[in-house]
Amino acid sequence: MSPSTRGRFITLEGGEGAGKSVQAKRLEEKLKSLGLEVVRTREPGGSPQAEALREAILSGFAAPFGPEGEAILFGAARIDHLDTTILPALARGAWVVCDRFADSTRAYQGVAGNLPAAYVARLEQVVVGPNSPDLTLILDIPAETGLKRAAKRRGKGGADRFEAEALAFHQTLRRAFLDIASAEPQRCAVIDALKPPKDVAAAIWSVVEARLDPTSAPKPGP
Ligand code: TMP
Repeated sequence: MSPSTRGRFITLEGGEGAGKSVQAKRLEEKLKSLGLEVVRTREPGGSPQAEALREAILSGFAAPFGPEGEAILFGAARIDHLDTTILPALARGAWVVCDRFADSTRAYQGVAGNLPAAYVARLEQVVVGPNSPDLTLILDIPAETGLKRAAKRRGKGGADRFEAEALAFHQTLRRAFLDIASAEPQRCAVIDALKPPKDVAAAIWSVVEARLDPTSAPKPGP
């Protein structure tokens, strides 16, 4: 695909209850207000096959496979999501805003799940290859606050496979996401997600404007 007409690929990452979904919607609206075509999607999921795998993973059905098996299932879902949703959208010039992507595998299965970094890196190379995001926004929030927010959001429903992990797991995740941001500062930006949603949205927008210049991006034809 030609680099000049290709859309841009933005991912939002972070622990539980960081407000990624709300911010992904706000970012979608803001980009659309500039006349851009935007595809907002999520992982695991974002295509019919990958949504089916989401059910299997988040219900805990795949937990007996261990982090290694779960990482492979997230990878299988990601391959389908890339092939059927993300890459076609980018190729036609759409901007893709994705709630979680490969950094979640690095943090959840890799660091918090104790998988060797080389295994996770090799899997990412196979699954994602050259299709890394142009920009990754890491929404940072203390683990305790995020878990409380996530519990409030889901009301009486039970915690999913990963929300149900102990606090130490979620504290490790926070560190893992911050370490990814430090290791890849050109791709990643850390956003303070403790602030009110409108302030978080403003912080996100200033990073998107500065790094990807959406006002100058080619708009879809009539
Ligand atoms: P959420 O996006 O609604 O938070 O749910 C997705 C859950 O799946 C969340 O707990 C993070 C977890 N997850 C992984 O463990 N690895 C991955 O690669 C992805 C995309 C998500």
